[in-house]
Amino acid sequence: MPLIEVVEVWKNYLLGEVRVEALRGVSVAVERGEFVAITGPSGSGKSTLMHILGCLDLPDRGDYWLDEDRVTQMGSDERARLRNEKIGFVFQNFFLMSRTSARENVELPLLYTDTPAKKRREIARRMLQRVGLQDREEHFPNQLSGGQQQRVAIARALVNHPPLLLADEPTGNLDSQTGQEIIALFQALNMEEGVTIVIVTHEPDIAAQARRQIRFRDGVIAEDSVRREVALGSGRGEGA
Ligand SMILES: Nc1ncnc2c1ncn2[C@@H]1O[C@H](COP(=O)(O)OP(=O)(O)O)[C@@H](O)[C@H]1O
Ligand SMILES: [Mg+2]
Repeated sequence: MPLIEVVEVWKNYLLGEVRVEALRGVSVAVERGEFVAITGPSGSGKSTLMHILGCLDLPDRGDYWLDEDRVTQMGSDERARLRNEKIGFVFQNFFLMSRTSARENVELPLLYTDTPAKKRREIARRMLQRVGLQDREEHFPNQLSGGQQQRVAIARALVNHPPLLLADEPTGNLDSQTGQEIIALFQALNMEEGVTIVIVTHEPDIAAQARRQIRFRDGVIAEDSVRREVALGSGRGEGA
């Protein structure tokens, strides 16, 4: 069974009298271990799908299965619990807590677990090391560059070891060099930790780094392609 299975999902927004059809019958499956880039013009429904994948919002119609749980049948408490366990989310604007250190930001998701304080600190330190920030533990967000802040956000997203990392325009506020470094980090985490990654990007250079690209247009999937040389060389079993 795939990690993510979205079946005929529809989502409308009501803006005054005007109905916006953000998603119009989207179906997609993502296997464990995949690295997927979602592209497409502004307003094509990318963020709407990411919010559904992230259990932050529900579709009007259709089904969403995450790791064998039927999200579309769950209540909001159950969905929140699933989100804490299974999903790390990274945003364009980092969303770090400004008055707490990099380490404390990374510790945040562990506060909802019964991990003792000393252990939390140790785990957060190790996670910051993993993203290359071992010497920035006690820095506050405003003492870090954009790329460093995004690394803190990635460490925080992954500190609970969720199987799924979602990132909506994670390089949108970074220069292209820094953006490439962040993508290289995603790739390393995908290869070495096996975390499944879905990112939204409108930058072709960034999307080209993913094995699979899904292109949205007007609330539907216009194209879904796997890079051929990687697909042949990866040795991934079909549906294994
Ligand atoms: N909260 C909302 N209220 C009303 N319309 C919305 C809302 N969120 C998104 N939309 C509309 O839904 C469509 C898809 O938006 P979105 O998923 O954010 O696109 P993308 O991320 O691809 O730019 C757009 O037309 C957008 O204006
Ligand atoms: Mg968007």
